[in-house]
Amino acid sequence: MTPPQPRVTPQQPHKTQPRVTPQPHHTTPQTHLVPPLPALRGRRSAKWRSHPADVLPLPVAEMDFVLAEPVAQALREAVDRSDTGYAAPTRDLAHALRGYARRAWDWTVDPDHVRTVTDVGLGIVETLRRLVSPGDRVAVSPPVYEPFGWWIREVGAQPVDVPLATRPDGERRLDLSALEETFAAPGTVAYLLCNPHNPLGLVHTREELTTLAELADQYGVHVLSDEIHAPLTLPGAVFVPFLSVSEAARRRGFAFHSASKGWNLAGLKAATVVTADPAPKRYVDRFSPHSLFRTGHLGVLATVAAYEHGDAWLAEVVRALDHNRVLLGELLARHLPTVGYRPPDAGFLAWLDFRRVPGAAGRGDDPAGYLLETARVALTSGLGYGAEGRGFARLNFACAPDTLTEAVSRIAAAC
Ligand SMILES: Cc1ncc(COP(=O)(O)O)c(C=O)c1O
Repeated sequence: MTPPQPRVTPQQPHKTQPRVTPQPHHTTPQTHLVPPLPALRGRRSAKWRSHPADVLPLPVAEMDFVLAEPVAQALREAVDRSDTGYAAPTRDLAHALRGYARRAWDWTVDPDHVRTVTDVGLGIVETLRRLVSPGDRVAVSPPVYEPFGWWIREVGAQPVDVPLATRPDGERRLDLSALEETFAAPGTVAYLLCNPHNPLGLVHTREELTTLAELADQYGVHVLSDEIHAPLTLPGAVFVPFLSVSEAARRRGFAFHSASKGWNLAGLKAATVVTADPAPKRYVDRFSPHSLFRTGHLGVLATVAAYEHGDAWLAEVVRALDHNRVLLGELLARHLPTVGYRPPDAGFLAWLDFRRVPGAAGRGDDPAGYLLETARVALTSGLGYGAEGRGFARLNFACAPDTLTEAVSRIAAAC
């Protein structure tokens, strides 16, 4: 294997963090972060319009928190100017991402290697379109974000499951030896990495990512690293950008970034594809020249504001999520001790294992369907995550602690 070349600014080595079990604590998050339930019910986004008013909605990955003030101000100013045209061909977003990535992860992004796209999904699909031919194989590690499979099929390729490995202590991690076997098999052209991993909230270690990059390089496989949840990495974990780990990663890799999860801007439609080597950049350069105009102008303005002025708000949100992941563990231990739950290292999604819950047993593989009917709590069904998701449901805890408490008590009553 070629030894690493210092072509990209060398990164500070990040230490691999041993897994830290989040400890119960009694500081409540800032309540001003979450509007009261009637105000939330006035929202017209998917989370709040998909179910009747008696249902507590904890599925779609939107947060209940109020917008970061610098983001809200950027949007207000644009609306006051009637500044609602197309996104401008400037480098503002690339420079804002560069500044944020350096502060947050000590990662050097070259603005010339940043391409603005509508959203992460579109960025991944457009990248795959340029990498695969019909029938090619693209590996994924289930249980993983359901649309990964849709995106791979959308470009005529075939998703290949390489499930996360389960260690003797029950921890789930990337299965690097199974990935090597898959990479070595004919027709495997790419691997879609979820970093951090949705729905388990796993933050992959520098060692795992370095080995993954070496394997990808050895077998000529491209790695598409979806890093949308990275800004929401929680205390005790250290997010490592895939492109920062080695020259092999930069040769084989594409990273997808967006403020849509971290600052709750999904409806505004702006994201970026990042490369760090001329070879992958050549594929991104072949995107339609029109792709910028398919990106939301307000999304770009809001994302620049988030990256440049959103650190303080993000820190508050991370504290609130840290509180809620511990609270969820306490509530489950008290009311639903047979539900399996590993507090996530990043993000606001909890992957709940209902397979041993007496009241849910025998009611099929879909606790989310059952709980929607009986508890009037909407979770995301595990069934979309393939065989790995049978008996599981995904819960979004980016809400007020009271909402979480109410949801668990409704679920416990129904079970
Ligand atoms: C891992 C992951 N990737 C992508 C997305 C969707 O991102 P976008 O709306 O930018 O396509 C989500 C949304 O929840 C996600 O969890």
